Amino acid sequence: MPQDQLIIFDTTLRDGEQAPGIALTPDEKLTIARQLARLRVDVIEAGFAAASDGDFYGVSQIAKLVRGPVIASLARCTPDDIDRAHDAVRHAERHRIHVFQSTSPIHMERMLRMTPAEVMQSIIESVRRARRYTDDVEFSPQDATRSDPDFMIATCKAAVREGATTINIPDTVGFATPQDYVELLRRVYDEVLEGRDDVIVSTHCHNDLGLAVANSLTAIHAGARQIEGAINGIGERAGNTSTEEVIMAVTTRQDHFGVEVGANTAEIVPTSRLVSRLTGYPIQFNKAVVGRNAFAHESGIHQHGVLRDRETYEIMDPESVGATSQIVLGKHSGRAGFADALAKLDIVLEDDQFNEAFLAFKEMADRKVEINEQELRAIIRHGHRRVPHTIRMVSMRVHGGTDVEPTATVVVTRGEGTETEEFTGTGGGMVDATFAALKKASGLEPHLLDYRVVPVTSGADAMAEVNVVIQLNGMSRSGRAISTDVVEGSGRAFVEALNGVLNAGAGVPV
Ligand code: KIV
Ligand code: ZN
Repeated sequence: MPQDQLIIFDTTLRDGEQAPGIALTPDEKLTIARQLARLRVDVIEAGFAAASDGDFYGVSQIAKLVRGPVIASLARCTPDDIDRAHDAVRHAERHRIHVFQSTSPIHMERMLRMTPAEVMQSIIESVRRARRYTDDVEFSPQDATRSDPDFMIATCKAAVREGATTINIPDTVGFATPQDYVELLRRVYDEVLEGRDDVIVSTHCHNDLGLAVANSLTAIHAGARQIEGAINGIGERAGNTSTEEVIMAVTTRQDHFGVEVGANTAEIVPTSRLVSRLTGYPIQFNKAVVGRNAFAHESGIHQHGVLRDRETYEIMDPESVGATSQIVLGKHSGRAGFADALAKLDIVLEDDQFNEAFLAFKEMADRKVEINEQELRAIIRHGHRRVPHTIRMVSMRVHGGTDVEPTATVVVTRGEGTETEEFTGTGGGMVDATFAALKKASGLEPHLLDYRVVPVTSGADAMAEVNVVIQLNGMSRSGRAISTDVVEGSGRAFVEALNGVLNAGAGVPV
C-alpha cells in the first residue's frame, strides 16, 4: 500500500463538548484549540456556530486566533445555519463548513418529518450554498449506518456534484461492526468517488459498542483518508473515536495501515490531561495511550523485562507520547529549583504569576513530601484560575466520624470586604455538610449536577483534583480545586462554582 496522508479531524470541541455535563467557556475552548494546534491535528471542528451565541463566539475566537489547522463549524441543512457557520469560521487561515443531514428512515420519519425527496433537496441546496462561501465543504449523512445504503450513497453523490470535498460517513449510534463499516465505506469510495482523488472519504464513529476506534481504523483499508475523533474519546453517550488512539495506532503500525499522520505525538499526553481537566472528565486508568497505567509495569517479571529492554513489554516509547517525567520537588526546593522545573516543562510565567505559583507550591510542599510533574502542573493551573470572588471561603472546620452527625462550619467574606461571617451545615457526610454550609453562605440552592474527585497521583498523601458542576435556573457552572484534603478541596471547588453563578448574575438567592 502506498504511504498516504491520513487527515486527523478533531471534534473534541464540538461532538466531544456534547458529552453530558461538559460546559466549556469560550476561553477554555480557545485553550484546548491552541493545544490541538500544538498537537498538529489537521482540522479542528471548533463547534456548532448556530447552536447559540456562546457557540458562535467560541468558534469565531478560535478562527481568529488559532493558526495551523483548518477550522470547521458544523451546520444543519438550513440557510441560517450555513450563513452562521461561515460567519464564524471566515476569519481562519483555512476554513471548512461541515453540513449534515439525517438519511436513515427513523431520523427522517420520526425526527425530521421529511420525505427522502425533501431530505435530498435540502442537501443539494445546502452544499451549494456552503460552496458559495468556501471551497472546503464536508457533507455527513447522519445515521449513515442505519440508512438505506442506496439512498445514503445517492445523497453523497449529490453532495459531491454540488461541490462537497469531504464525504464523512457517521456511525452516529455506534451500531456498525468493523466488517459492516468497511463494506459500506468501500461502496462509498467506489460509487461516490468513481476514481476522483480530489474528494476525501472520512469516518466518524461512536463508541456505543466499544468499536469506534476499530471501525475507524478498519475503514483506512477501504480508502478512508480522514478520521474524526475526540481527545480521550469524549462525546455523545459512550463517546467518539479517540483521536490519540488513532494517531498512535497508525504511527506504531505503519506497516499495517500504510498511512502517515502529521501529528506531534509528544503533545498527546499534555493534550489529554488538558481536556480532562477542563471538561472534568477523568481519564480511565487503563485507557490506551494516555491512561495512568498505560506505561506502568506491575508484575516483577514485567518490571525485570522492561529494565533490561523497554521493548520487552512496551510497543510505544512513553516519551513519544509525552508521558515521562523526571521532575521531583520537595519542601526544601527554593525559587531557583522551582524555576528550573518550570523551564524543563516549558512553562513560562509572568513575575506575579510565578510568585503566586511558588507560594501555592510551598503551601503544598508543607503537606506533601514530594511533588512530581503532574502535581506541579496541577498547582500551576490552579494558581492561575481567577474566578472573581463574590464570596471567599476564609476557613472551614468539619466534624465527622462513626457516631456523630457530620457538621461543617465555614467562615466567609463577601466581595472585597474583610468582615467575616460564619455558617454551619449538616449532611450525609463531611463533603455534603460543607456544601450545605456554603449554600447557606451564598444564599443559593443550586442542584449538584456532578461531583468528582480525581487523584493527580497515587498514595495516601495524594493530591486530588476536585471537580464540581452545579446548576441553577438552567445555568451550569463548574468549580475546581486541588488539595491533599478531599473535603477542603471539595469546599473550595464548590465555592468557585457558586461564584461562577453569582458572577453571571443568574443566581436568584433563595
Ligand atoms: O454522530 C454524528 O452523526 C455526528 C454528525 C453531526 C457528523 O456527529
Ligand atoms: Zn457524532
